[in-house]
Amino acid sequence: MYRYDDYDHAIVQARVAQFRGQTERYLAGKLSDDEFRPLRLQNGLYIQRHGPMLRLAVPYGLLSAAQLRRFADLARHYDRGFGHFTTRHNLQLNWVKLAEVPDILADLARDELHAIQTSGNCIRNVTTDHFAGVAADEIADPRPWAEILRQWSTFHPEFAYLPRKFKVAISGATEDRAAIQVHDLGLQVVKNDAGEIGFKVYAGGGLGRTPLLCQVIRQFLPWQHLLSYTEALVRVFNRHGRRDNAYKARIKILVKALGREEFTRQVEAEWAHLKNGPATLTAAEVDRVSAQFAAPAYETLAENDLCHLAHLREDKAFSRWVERNVQAHKVAGYAAVTLSLKKPGAAPGDASSEQMEAAADLAERYSFGEIRVSHEQNLILADVPQRELYTVWHRAKAAGLAAPTAGLIQDLIACPGGDFCALANARSLPIAAAIQERFEDLDHQHDIGDLELNISGCMNSCGHHHLGAIGILGVDKNGEEWYQITLGGRQGNEARIGDVIGRAFAAAEVPDAIERLISVYLAHRHADERFIDTFDRIGIEAFQSAAYPTPPTPINQGESQMANKQIIKERRLQDDAWKVVNLVDGEAPFDVCLPVGPLLVPVSVWKAKKSCLIAREYEHGTPLGIWLAPEDDIAEIAADIDDFTVIAVHFPKFADGRGYSTARLLRERHGYDGELRAFGDIGRDQIFFLNRVGFDAFVLGEGKNAEDALAAFDDFPESYQGDAVQPLPLFRRRAA
Ligand code: HEM
Ligand code: SF4
Repeated sequence: MYRYDDYDHAIVQARVAQFRGQTERYLAGKLSDDEFRPLRLQNGLYIQRHGPMLRLAVPYGLLSAAQLRRFADLARHYDRGFGHFTTRHNLQLNWVKLAEVPDILADLARDELHAIQTSGNCIRNVTTDHFAGVAADEIADPRPWAEILRQWSTFHPEFAYLPRKFKVAISGATEDRAAIQVHDLGLQVVKNDAGEIGFKVYAGGGLGRTPLLCQVIRQFLPWQHLLSYTEALVRVFNRHGRRDNAYKARIKILVKALGREEFTRQVEAEWAHLKNGPATLTAAEVDRVSAQFAAPAYETLAENDLCHLAHLREDKAFSRWVERNVQAHKVAGYAAVTLSLKKPGAAPGDASSEQMEAAADLAERYSFGEIRVSHEQNLILADVPQRELYTVWHRAKAAGLAAPTAGLIQDLIACPGGDFCALANARSLPIAAAIQERFEDLDHQHDIGDLELNISGCMNSCGHHHLGAIGILGVDKNGEEWYQITLGGRQGNEARIGDVIGRAFAAAEVPDAIERLISVYLAHRHADERFIDTFDRIGIEAFQSAAYPTPPTPINQGESQMANKQIIKERRLQDDAWKVVNLVDGEAPFDVCLPVGPLLVPVSVWKAKKSCLIAREYEHGTPLGIWLAPEDDIAEIAADIDDFTVIAVHFPKFADGRGYSTARLLRERHGYDGELRAFGDIGRDQIFFLNRVGFDAFVLGEGKNAEDALAAFDDFPESYQGDAVQPLPLFRRRAA
């Protein structure tokens, strides 16, 4: 692994001294909260529910045994004896004291560790494949490149105050295990026809409020240009990313707004100035760094160890653990082992100091002294000889690290949620615990097989819920914790964002709902089909009808004409929490009182209270909505259109057809792809046309029969003109 030289030591030591000075000035009242905030954030220091939370970096997920012992020691001395491993190669300490943080950083620096840029609007810890260097499908080891990027991004003077955080992931294998497609910048190591190493460059991915997968912006970037090209790309983001709305500030929004071609053009134009400049990598530097990731001194071993095979035959519990937690290794006779940090009753990813020490002992004794942290919040021993697996299993069991559940439902990913995080809408950990308890039976778990279940406590998506085959998102409904379920998400080469199945569930309903979803899978699966395969084959509908066996409970009566009505969406009736805000006679837009929950505000209120509404979205996760009257001019909101989760168009009378043109303009001229709802005096006889011009949600007028209206989507089998549903006019389809 990479070891610091004098330069690296000097930089990290200087950072400790700098942060000590900043903390002392803050505690002495010489720095205000606002001044200290970005400084502490760039050192991973958040203020959370229980006070300061410190996020420590595990560069590209790799630790020496000594470094893991250092973590154990810090957790014991400065915290409550445990730490939380996150999905992005970090360790979080939830109970530190601000005045002690400089001491923690000094202790970390002794073992070549730090908390630099683990938070803040800067380039974060670069992540990679936890099987890097040992996977059979590897094109080249991504870790030297991750280290080169780490050094380049550390204290990059131009990029300390980006519009928003910037996350980089790199994969060196054919199978993406680093979730590169949901990062701001994803790099895939590839070889060209001449066998030279380079990178396929992906940009503009991310989860959070607007989940988007990356776009490929370059098929092959020769390795020499890794830094200059990345610099050009981040410069384009720094200069043109939005800074007026934190939810719109990630690079994904810029890439989406500009489009892939234009974004790529801007990056390439910027790169033309930097290409072949001083940042061009030299073979000597790549060799220097790569030498530190040279393979350890593997023994020459047989493909299969006979004792290991005997243990597999004789000990069912061991063979079950091997089946789930032991992965193939590219060197004969070796294996990679997943030490599980998941068990009912403990937060996923939590490890006690004793467990960290036990894992460090195992690494030292059986895996060349190194250990990895996986994106799934487990620890990995990457280089274990097969003959030692039985002993490793026994010792891991004694330390509570041998749950034979890697990749099963028990191995779920969850963020800290409302128990720790000040941004949460709902708690994640009790939901994780309830699901783990419900599926505790090992035979049942193994029968269900591979299943990624991910939980986030709010739309920031730290638990990657969009990528779970089953995803659970905590939402706030009038101050209560509810949970929305998505299905069909996945990471890897075929990355896909999951689909919402319908109304949210109360906390107590979630385990039953999950059980019902899994029953659908068990009833329909073909031999060897995983949950996700069955989902792909049979579609979401079978799961939806099982998830909601009883009609939804009515929600409370509210104050507006649309709130708490049922809405037609996805061709079925659903509950709706959005409220329409109206100005009462003589009320000034700025004075209007905003009720809690998601709101559809008139254009005048949006213009008067935009910053306040955006702050509500950022601080409380309340999505933004607006409603347009027939006479409203879309140009007035054109620059903000991407901000809205819902745009509603009002029909005061069904014969007032202006809203039909509004819808087409929003969809076709302004590219709006969020929910577009029609409300007011509309009923069954308008639905077919409304749907054709681009509306995808409908709140019918008083007294209209919504069940009846559902049939209207199919009133005509064909249409002559092109529209939002079928862009090609009939004459073109006829001719085809
Ligand atoms: C408890 C303190 C935490 C806070 C305040 C926090 C805050 C945030 C915020 C605000 C975002 C959204 C960024 C955006 O979309 O612009 C985010 C994203 C993310 N967080 Fe956290 N987080 C916390 C803990 C964690 C933990 C424990 C994990 C891992 C288990 C984690 C993993 C992530 C990941 C992977 C994303 C990326 C989502 C994306 O790509 O957009 N975070 N976090
Ligand atoms: S998803 Fe939300 S609740 Fe969970 S850790 Fe991230 S910001 Fe906090």
